[in-house]
Amino acid sequence: MTARFYVTTPIYYVNDVPHLGTAYTTIAADALCRAHQLFGYETRFLTGTDEHGLKLATAAQERGETPQTFVDHMSAPFRAAWSELGIAHNDFIRTTEERHKKFVTTLWAKVEERGDLYEAAYEDWYCVGCESFKTEKELEDGHCPTHKKPVQKLKETTFFFRLAKYQEELLALYTERPEFIQPSTRRNEVVSFVSGGLRDLSVSRTSFSWGIPVPGHDRHVMYVWFDALANYLSALGGEDGELGRFWAPNAKVVHLVGKDILRFHAVYWPSFLLAAGYSREQLPTTIFAHGFLTIDGQKMSKSLRNAVDPVRLAREVGRDALRWYLLRSVAFGQDGDFSHEALLTRRDADLGKNIGNLLSRTLGLCTKFFENKTPAHHGNTALEDDLDVAATKEVVAAEKAWRELDPTRALEATAALGQLANQYVDRAAPWATAKQGDMPRTATILATLLSILERISVLMMPVTPALAIEVRAQLGLAPLTPIVGTNLWPHAAPHRPAGEALMPRGPLVPVLDEVARQALLERLMPARTEAPVTTEIPTTEPAPLPSDLPSQVPSPSAAANAKVVEQAAAPITYDDFAKIDLRVGLVLTAERVVKKDKLLKLTVDVGEDAPRSIVAGLALSFKPEDLVNRRVVVVANLVPRDFGKGLISHGMLLASGPSDALKLATVPSELAPGAKLK
Ligand code: MSP
Repeated sequence: MTARFYVTTPIYYVNDVPHLGTAYTTIAADALCRAHQLFGYETRFLTGTDEHGLKLATAAQERGETPQTFVDHMSAPFRAAWSELGIAHNDFIRTTEERHKKFVTTLWAKVEERGDLYEAAYEDWYCVGCESFKTEKELEDGHCPTHKKPVQKLKETTFFFRLAKYQEELLALYTERPEFIQPSTRRNEVVSFVSGGLRDLSVSRTSFSWGIPVPGHDRHVMYVWFDALANYLSALGGEDGELGRFWAPNAKVVHLVGKDILRFHAVYWPSFLLAAGYSREQLPTTIFAHGFLTIDGQKMSKSLRNAVDPVRLAREVGRDALRWYLLRSVAFGQDGDFSHEALLTRRDADLGKNIGNLLSRTLGLCTKFFENKTPAHHGNTALEDDLDVAATKEVVAAEKAWRELDPTRALEATAALGQLANQYVDRAAPWATAKQGDMPRTATILATLLSILERISVLMMPVTPALAIEVRAQLGLAPLTPIVGTNLWPHAAPHRPAGEALMPRGPLVPVLDEVARQALLERLMPARTEAPVTTEIPTTEPAPLPSDLPSQVPSPSAAANAKVVEQAAAPITYDDFAKIDLRVGLVLTAERVVKKDKLLKLTVDVGEDAPRSIVAGLALSFKPEDLVNRRVVVVANLVPRDFGKGLISHGMLLASGPSDALKLATVPSELAPGAKLK
């Protein structure tokens, strides 16, 4: 039987625009879907917008629009945003569509027919923000604890759903199917909530009309959550469409939600389904509740949500980089923090340096020694055997993590695969074997690296699909197309035949130097640097020196623009200058020097057969790992300097600044190691 996977996001309220929180859920769902495609599942991925209810009716009224015009206008940005973020959903449902209304009306009728709806007078507190009733106990000073706004007293005759009746069956379900609510901490919360007793739920309204009419009782519209939750089924086309194929037990059905709306999904939704006659086997497989993101440690207020627009971020830093960061840096299921600095650091470390440099280093050596073609593999040594075992472990771990809905762990394993390969290059040292003239060994090392890179390209596909295609293109491989029924996960790593064309074409993700990084951060976080300029300093005044700026830390660009007056050196002739051999260097390794606090020992590729050993006084300004893979300017013809105990420096790096805050002179990443500066 074909394995099927159906993943959904919450349908988002359209009184808000797409923001980092909703983008996070949607990206996670997309990645889970893509991973399952690679495992051979037939998949379906649904997202959409929630367009009924008091909240939206009020928002429309405030804008002076009819609710329908308002929701039409506000739903469109969601589709556009998801497309910019590389989301490949199969369907986008809007609860104002006929197909949805038709399904929900039938669902209501089924529940009513089975006797789980009744009319009664009702009086209770209601939070419009949550679209949910609140008990006295839940309120904080008469305010909703989530929205911090006053709640309203609602008094109506409404339809009630017999929720209390399902308490025992729900508890049995949670026990029988521990995977139904994940992660387990959240499951415990729901179990304790349900164990505390359930009250019947008011599921219709007569005080406003923006909703799906209750069949046979046109004065009532359905409670927005009864309407909204049904989207997961209405989008499958009702009983005649995809319902059978993509619904449980014929498919693994995963509803991804934020922890804020777990209760609706794990308590109300299964109860509605059971009440409509669905069996326990026909309930979704898993409701997975992820945590909440803060921005720079702060709760996502409306203004913060607007300031950190995921689409703009994707355009500025790369959409795959944003996707990678969100899923790798925030442990899935737990709360986490978003920061622009962390995003850039993660992008550079994982995609730029770890995977990106592995690719360019490997392809660079293939170009240099094997005319840009795949070299032949001449048999493993113990080094390759060890690498194969360790790499396969990570590949298996990544698959397991995806299947267990843990993208963070899966990406950890993906990055670990890159790290293993980088350690392997350092140990196997293909530049040294080539220098010794051992070309078969050099070929084996590079063939091994190419096969690891091919595996990495597959592991990257769920989260960074465009970069995965780029890695494959540079390796001379076509994009991988999932095949239903076939697991394409790279459990084995066969070597390619020798002589196939490779297509190196520059860095996968350019690593920014400090100046470019700060400039990008300023663009992304205008509030950080605009304040002193716009509020304190008249724009007609010349730019102030950093010390003139009000209390704020000077912006990096202001500091960079300020002039530093240093004693000028005596003039030299051009011939004098030409004697200095300045070259582009690529730092391959960096380590501290025992008992020399200020020194770092580097190996630097300056375009020669073997990298040079250079000792530099950089230890107070840089961590060794910050230097690896950086392009630097090397004075290549200085007489070697002996630091004692066998420590000899074969060159010098150009830098500026105080010894504990040095900045390195840098060069663009297009310049190859060894290029002369003149
Ligand atoms: N319309 C309901 C859902 C109905 S589903 C049948 C709703 N919509 S919402 O627009 O408020 O979206 C809520 C979802 O947005 C959360 O469950 C979560 O997936 C996502 N997030 C909103 N803010 C978030 C964070 N700060 N962090 C992470 N995700 C967040 O509720």
